Amino acid sequence: MSLRGRDVVSALDFTREEVEGLFELAERLRREMEERGTLSYARGRVLATVFLEPSTRTRLSFTFAMVRLGGSVVDFGPEAASSRAKGESVEDTLRMVDGYGPDAIVLRQGVPGFAARAAEICEAPVINAGDGWNEHPTQALLDVYTMWRELGRVDGVTVGIVGDLRYGRTPSSLSYMLSHFDGVRIWYVAPDPLQIREEVVERIGDRVEVRRASRLEEVLEELDVLYVTRLQKERFPDPEEYERLKGSYRVDAEFLSRFERVPVIMHPLPRVWELDESVDSLPQAKYFEQARNGLYVRAALLKEILGV
Ligand code: NCD
Repeated sequence: MSLRGRDVVSALDFTREEVEGLFELAERLRREMEERGTLSYARGRVLATVFLEPSTRTRLSFTFAMVRLGGSVVDFGPEAASSRAKGESVEDTLRMVDGYGPDAIVLRQGVPGFAARAAEICEAPVINAGDGWNEHPTQALLDVYTMWRELGRVDGVTVGIVGDLRYGRTPSSLSYMLSHFDGVRIWYVAPDPLQIREEVVERIGDRVEVRRASRLEEVLEELDVLYVTRLQKERFPDPEEYERLKGSYRVDAEFLSRFERVPVIMHPLPRVWELDESVDSLPQAKYFEQARNGLYVRAALLKEILGV
């Protein structure tokens, strides 16, 4: 596997072998970090992080990953404190960041499809950390890595993705990442206005068996993994539509207790009202572990892209 110098724009950019290679490497780095704390693979290398939309996990796990690999991180800081506030374009901003010579750039930005443009502009490899509602490929890596660890396999799994499949970028990237494996079935569970975007189903083609449902109770017992997502309030053009759909699905311990078999429960986080704290103590609740897995899988990805 060589990902050296590679941009990561879409979850479809990887091959199955590359994905599995990253999972194995993440396991190795986890052990090495547990034993030795900070490693020295990326000594002398610099990662730039540019987040033009809010982030906790993605920004911090990339930062911790780079620092634990022995490298350094320069963060762009809040947009309001940069010349973006004076009207500088995102393109020029990126030209500047790239011009200072980072070894890689992690970018989150609000315009769908912009990650591909950024990859064209920048010399340094660009890692898409979310481009609007379009994609979030490194989230999909850690999501599938979590399934691989929890279930011991990815082939043949049945995953229910519930929530905001229309404005969410994690459901699309997760679908693309799962399409690298064999015999996967995805249930898209959402009220009609929030159902999965057609382009996602088109792009995964017949590599995944796709089903749709509007109610979780109809499918829950079939699932190996339940992947809950938040309504992307900030992307709703009409705040009234948000209010109307709010609460249309909610997972809590009482709901889950009605079923004989409860799947592994995941969520990219942040959660708001759709995944209740009463679920946290169930043995199937894996979302905090999932977030932590982001550190190792992103460390593996950085190590490969930097070629160190
Ligand atoms: C997700 C995102 O930014 O798309 N968060 C994350 O990176 N873990 C999910 C979300 O914001 O709902």
